[in-house]
Amino acid sequence: MAPCVNVSIDPAAQFVSDVRAGLCKKGQKELPSKYLYDPLGFALFEAITLLPEYGLTRADERLLRRHAKEMVGHVPSPALVSELGSGSGRKTRWILSALCECEPVAYYPIELSRAALDTCESELGDVGCVSIVGVEREYLDGLREVAALRGDGAGLLVLFLGSTIGNFDAGADARFLSEVRSVLAPGDGLLLGTDLLKKPERMLEAYDDPLGVTAAFNLNLLGRINRELDGEFDLRQFEHAARFNEATSSIEMHLRSKRRQVVHVRRGGFAATFAAGETIWTESSHKYTRREIAELAVACGFRVEAQWVDDEWPFAENLWVAV
Ligand code: AVJ
Repeated sequence: MAPCVNVSIDPAAQFVSDVRAGLCKKGQKELPSKYLYDPLGFALFEAITLLPEYGLTRADERLLRRHAKEMVGHVPSPALVSELGSGSGRKTRWILSALCECEPVAYYPIELSRAALDTCESELGDVGCVSIVGVEREYLDGLREVAALRGDGAGLLVLFLGSTIGNFDAGADARFLSEVRSVLAPGDGLLLGTDLLKKPERMLEAYDDPLGVTAAFNLNLLGRINRELDGEFDLRQFEHAARFNEATSSIEMHLRSKRRQVVHVRRGGFAATFAAGETIWTESSHKYTRREIAELAVACGFRVEAQWVDDEWPFAENLWVAV
């Protein structure tokens, strides 16, 4: 018998307890970045991907569009494709169409956001010979579920695009990718998108755009707490801040309290106190070097099969194979 059984707690209960823990802790307050994506946050992120300063998503999409055929050629005809955090699904079209030229594909996008899954299903509904089954779960739970569905000898290709891996804390990226590896069989593929280190000014502009879309995306997290947890945040009393943390090589997003204030979160049964200038850390977006990516692959039980780098916006698409 398995020594442990995964018990999933209700997502709403998890949200309250994460918010309480993050806002009541001593020292740097924090909120997990996965909560940025409620329906409004998801729409704001889609707007970010259109900003001239934010080249990441376009680079990702360009690489997939240009090299999809080559990419899928490296994985021996997988029967199943699963994507961690499909977003709108727009970029995935190229991979699915390339695979379809050989045989029918079963595609399992895994997303916590129902809004994203719906968008993804309608975006990709017209790609011939793909059957789409959305999985509304945490990434690893969802992936285990998908892996259990495959028949003997069927291959699995996992897509983890858009540099979402960069949102994990230092060290947590490797732990997460090792967990992904443990669900895979030797020969299975992982296509991993990673944003690369570039000039600090260029990175900062991308996370602090003059139009204020990223600021709205970040502040919406407080709006979400107000809506879902009966919170009393005055969004005008906080401001968006983006900074480059050299020690961790990541862009951090924070929400800075403009003054001293006490904010009640009724459904959480707590009040958080903020000093003037105190921040809530809401996201880290790690920027990789090519060497770091190669080391990460080996440390997590993969071999690097191929890598494609965009020429306009330093971003890498990495094809890893489970060993
Ligand atoms: C969706 C995780 C790739 O880290 O760049 C965009 C999210 N945050 N602007 C990123 C984000 C601020 C984004 N990822």
